[in-house]
Amino acid sequence: GNNSINAKLVLLGDMGTGKSSLVLRFVKGQFLEFQESTIGAAFFSQTLAVSDATVKLEIWDTAGQERYHSLAPMYYRGAAAAIIVYDISRMESFERAKKWVQELQKQGNPSMVTALVGNKCDLEDKREVLTEASFLAEPDFFNYEARTYAEENGLFFMETSAKTAINVNDIFYEIARRLPRA
Ligand code: GTP
Ligand code: MG
Repeated sequence: GNNSINAKLVLLGDMGTGKSSLVLRFVKGQFLEFQESTIGAAFFSQTLAVSDATVKLEIWDTAGQERYHSLAPMYYRGAAAAIIVYDISRMESFERAKKWVQELQKQGNPSMVTALVGNKCDLEDKREVLTEASFLAEPDFFNYEARTYAEENGLFFMETSAKTAINVNDIFYEIARRLPRA
């Protein structure tokens, strides 16, 4: 078909998890070792062609610092999609991601397409948040928390690295594929 869709997408997650880096990688193909912390929010737009539609994503990259928390509803209200980002090397950022999931479940648009993203998967030696693969390697170790949590909460899950670019485009394309068609 010739569907043309405009969709608001919001990135949420603790400070330093790599939200801006994921967007910069996706929109400009770049990565900065010293990416500056976002103040308020930053806006980007990017158009994707998927099999049956052209999807224009209007991307709001929010600031993870706690003092900006009260601004978040302005960005997730009316959003068709959300990417909730944690850092696989910081368990605390995964706990924060679960809080975002709860907040969206309570206050967000119920049909929102939501992705849970474990970023910085290049830092395997510093990993604190396990996935299925780590579980299979250690069968007695029952906290393959991220993937299980995502399945239980109807989110789609991916690990990414904004640094190496692994899976970064895939998240945005998967969101575009899952958005309701006009
Ligand atoms: P706030 O704007 O404060 O909410 O942070 P943010 O989530 O936008 O994080 P940002 O993109 O600013 O990245 C924080 C730091 O992590 C920067 O120094 C990045 O270079 C680094 N970083 C981001 N993504 C990755 C990654 O995939 N791997 C590694 N090793 N470092 C990353
Ligand atoms: Mg940022």
